[in-house]
Amino acid sequence: MSLSWQQLETLLADSAASLYGGEAVSQLEHALQSAECAERDGANPALITAALLHDVGHLVAGQGDTDLANGIDDRHEQIGVASLKELFGDAVLAPIALHVSAKRYLCVIEPGYHAALSESSRQSLALQGGLMSADETRRFAANPHAYAAVALRRWDDEAKVIGKVTPPLSHYLQIAAAVARNPQ
Ligand SMILES: [Fe+2]
Repeated sequence: MSLSWQQLETLLADSAASLYGGEAVSQLEHALQSAECAERDGANPALITAALLHDVGHLVAGQGDTDLANGIDDRHEQIGVASLKELFGDAVLAPIALHVSAKRYLCVIEPGYHAALSESSRQSLALQGGLMSADETRRFAANPHAYAAVALRRWDDEAKVIGKVTPPLSHYLQIAAAVARNPQ
C-alpha cells in the first residue's frame, strides 16, 4: 500500500499515542528525535526525511509492543519503503530500506556496537537475521547508500531519550515536503 501525503501526515501525528516497540518513548518522539539528530549532524534534507520516516513501516504494520516479545519481525523496513515509494525517491528510500541491515553490519565491524544496543534492539537483531556473514558485510559496504544507512542507524539508536525536547512534527514535514514528489 502506498501512502498519500495526507495519510502520511495523519499516520505520523497519530503515532504520538503508540510506544516505540519495547522502548519508553512514543513512535512520534522516536521519529522526531531521529530527524533532530540528523539535522544536528548536518544531514541533507533527503536524509533528515529518511530519519523522520525510517520506522513508518511499524506504523503501517501496526506492530504492537507484544509482537517483538512474541518473536515476530514485521519486516518494517520493507513495508516502509513500499508505503513511501510514490512520495519519495531513492535518496530517502534506500537508507530506510537498509537501516536494519546497517545494524547487522555495525554489530560485525564495530567493536562494542552490539553491547551498546538497547535490550529490544538486541532482541530484534536475532529476528532480523543476526550478525552479517563476511560476504554480506562486503556486499553491504559496497552499496552506494551504505554510508547514509549507517548514519541513519546511529541516529535511530540515539533517538530513545525519555522527555527530550525536539522541534515539532511540522518542522520536519516541511523538510520532507521539499524533497517529496507530490506533497499534497
Ligand atoms: Fe527506529
